[in-house]
Amino acid sequence: MVKKWWMESVGYQIYPKSFLDSNADGIGDIKGIDSKLDYLKDLGVNLIWICPFYDSPMDDNGYDVRNFFDVAKEFGSMDDVKDLIKHAHERGIKIILDYVLNHTSDEHPWFIESRSSKDNPYRDFYIWQDPKIVDGEKRPPTNWGSFFGGSAWAYDEATDSFYMKIFSDKMPDLNWKNEKVQDEMIKIAKTWLDLGIDGFRIDAVSHLDRAEFVDTDVCTDPICLDWHKFSNLPKVHDYLKKLNKEVFEPYQALTIGEVGGEASIEQGIKYASYDSNELSMVFNFDHNWCNNLSDVLNPKKMTVRLKCLKKAFGKWQEAFKEIGWLPLNWLNHDQPRLMTQYGHYKYPLESGKMLATALHMMRGTPFIYQGEEIGMTNYPFEDVSDFNDISSQANYFYHLSKEPDDPVKALKKAAVTSRDNPRTPMQWSSDEFAGFSTKPPWFPVNPNYKKINVTKNLNDKNSLWYHYQKLIDLRRHSLYKETIVYGSYEMIDPEHELLYNYLRKSKNETLLVINSFSPKKVTYNLTKYQIIEVVINNYKDYHIKEHTIMLKPFQSIVFKVEEKL
Ligand code: NOJ
Repeated sequence: MVKKWWMESVGYQIYPKSFLDSNADGIGDIKGIDSKLDYLKDLGVNLIWICPFYDSPMDDNGYDVRNFFDVAKEFGSMDDVKDLIKHAHERGIKIILDYVLNHTSDEHPWFIESRSSKDNPYRDFYIWQDPKIVDGEKRPPTNWGSFFGGSAWAYDEATDSFYMKIFSDKMPDLNWKNEKVQDEMIKIAKTWLDLGIDGFRIDAVSHLDRAEFVDTDVCTDPICLDWHKFSNLPKVHDYLKKLNKEVFEPYQALTIGEVGGEASIEQGIKYASYDSNELSMVFNFDHNWCNNLSDVLNPKKMTVRLKCLKKAFGKWQEAFKEIGWLPLNWLNHDQPRLMTQYGHYKYPLESGKMLATALHMMRGTPFIYQGEEIGMTNYPFEDVSDFNDISSQANYFYHLSKEPDDPVKALKKAAVTSRDNPRTPMQWSSDEFAGFSTKPPWFPVNPNYKKINVTKNLNDKNSLWYHYQKLIDLRRHSLYKETIVYGSYEMIDPEHELLYNYLRKSKNETLLVINSFSPKKVTYNLTKYQIIEVVINNYKDYHIKEHTIMLKPFQSIVFKVEEKL
């Protein structure tokens, strides 16, 4: 059996801009993270993923890197990072950073050189094409759309050419075909690993190879977002094998690739099976949007499509059971808040705990996104000017272009999915600005901070926070550890409309995990099992009558059982 330190870890994702401001400028920073290491240790996590804090003009909050070897002034200094690594390691907490290798900022010196002339030595660091002339006009080389709206190409007057950018105009895509680019990116990875970090979350990794520059026909609009043109194409694997051989493997680094663009199971296996020689794991997004929220637009009317959720988790668990490892997360900094997507407004505590159990008892490495452990929710947007995130604004105008007479609906649509939701300041206390800062933060605090905050959670032994702490403790330190970490995952009752149940089995024992996704009572027959003991329960008690358990709204309970023959 393959065993690695990260398989026995629990991770926590930090969005530095929103975590904690230590110097009263309204922006979270590295010292802020440092000051909360004990908080994280108490929660029980032993691995943190920190989103980019590199020098950047912040067009995309740091994913547009201007200098990979320096820290953005608003986030602190290299010395702060060195201290953070030291202090985290002293507490047994490992650190992975975002490795942004698909693009740079347009203010990166390579791009400034590249755009300056066609024969500049850095020209081929990026992807340049001549304009397509249609009816005497200069058009982008293809009709491909970008993730953040508009064309995947931006025109640059200096050399009368287009450069490729699948995110924003200020994020030109690197040309991975160029070996010099590969070698520079290898240097960057080595530098950070030499500094002592333990690995990387690899941003947008599936996009490093592009299809031939031929128009897509997936839609009839002048510009179409067809991510198949730049996702999960063959050469990505060559690049990753090289990175693995030269950096990841020699440093024994943990690497988790973000594989968007509808990565299939087959592709996931290519990236991250034990013998892929590419990555340790991949984050996929199949379990997002298994609800009707984008249709009803009102969280109070949201219902979860449980079969969709079970299918999404189940297929990855099944496919990787013997050949690889998976991260487990509900969301990250690009998705709406868990409580708004899948929680229930009438039962926030019960549904929040149930969602935590449902995920944390699976096979894989759980990642908690900052604020998830206290049940933070989406932000109540009232106007398009409330959006800070570049893609949320684009989204609003996209929806408005489809229904120009309904700006309210356009706002609601953009609000539901907005990436600002998970990025509102962390709600530490009921003090002004939620204890995040002593000055008005860069993004307003969610007005519900007096009700939902860390202090309140820590003062209540029955809170969501303590449930997360218990789940982490079970996985890391309890007698069930071997089963929770390395045991098999077996979905049961796949067709059940209200319950998500599965078994975890090791040679020591069998755990039966029962999760009700219903706001009503549900019964479940336990005739097949002999109950030995309760491992974790989100209610104080449970009721069994004649081998049938009566589950309360959103009850989630894990039993150690013996299966009756
Ligand atoms: C994925 C990141 O998670 C997202 O926040 C970012 O905007 C894009 N990659 C581009 O770097």
